[in-house]
Amino acid sequence: MTITPTAELAVIGGSGFYELLADAERVTVDTPYGAPSDAITLSPAGGRRVAFLPRHGRGHAVPPHRINYRANLWALRALGVRQILAPCAVGSLRPELGHGTVVVPDQLVDRTSGRAQTFYEQGAVHISFADPYCVHGRRAVLAAAAATGTEATDGGTMVVVQGPRFSTRAESQWYAAAGWSLVNMTGHPEAVLARELALCYTAVALVTDLDAGIDARRSVSQEEVFGVFAQNTERLRGLVLEALGRLPRERSCACPGTLADMTLPFPLP
Ligand code: ADE
Repeated sequence: MTITPTAELAVIGGSGFYELLADAERVTVDTPYGAPSDAITLSPAGGRRVAFLPRHGRGHAVPPHRINYRANLWALRALGVRQILAPCAVGSLRPELGHGTVVVPDQLVDRTSGRAQTFYEQGAVHISFADPYCVHGRRAVLAAAAATGTEATDGGTMVVVQGPRFSTRAESQWYAAAGWSLVNMTGHPEAVLARELALCYTAVALVTDLDAGIDARRSVSQEEVFGVFAQNTERLRGLVLEALGRLPRERSCACPGTLADMTLPFPLP
């Protein structure tokens, strides 16, 4: 008898977050969009079945602009996943959000280009994206932060840049002047593709650096970003594991109804 691997929840790990739990079952999933960033691991956590996918692949083989975001999201949905927590490294656009700060953003701005950002290349499928993150997912992460004694900032706008380079000082000052809080390279189209599959998606941002416009004496380096993320991976893993157990078993947020009354060009997995 073949047992089909399944999971209800997923974590998409960011730079340096390559494993959720040891002794996980490893599955390779193919999709109509090609292969995801890496094999997906499945394990129980918080009384639920959880899938884990490293966004950049293990060993960070895939840079932000080359990630097959469609394959990653499709593969997770095909495994049964309906709720996703998405830890990521971010630069800070506000001096008060220092190194190691956890932020649960509530808005994003897309400054990427040339990335496949929809599953729907035909027909009329225009989804609502006014609030890009799941309200209940955000609530679960903030409650988990309170329970684990992790200081977390509730809300903020994350601007997603194309990369792989970091921003110039002028770009960074422009983003800060617009009132945005965080800058990152992977938050889009990951969030919108999750919404297009009617999945709950919650970003969990960890500040690894002050972006170039904030500190005129310094510029951002890859070494700093990876180093600070590595120092905080265990803390972030603890927060994410606690938050998984707090995600609602029945979804009563708006996310599952995203595609109601729409004619899809193909069935969802
Ligand atoms: N990821 C982490 N820090 C970043 C920064 N300063 N700019 C863009 N992406 C980042």
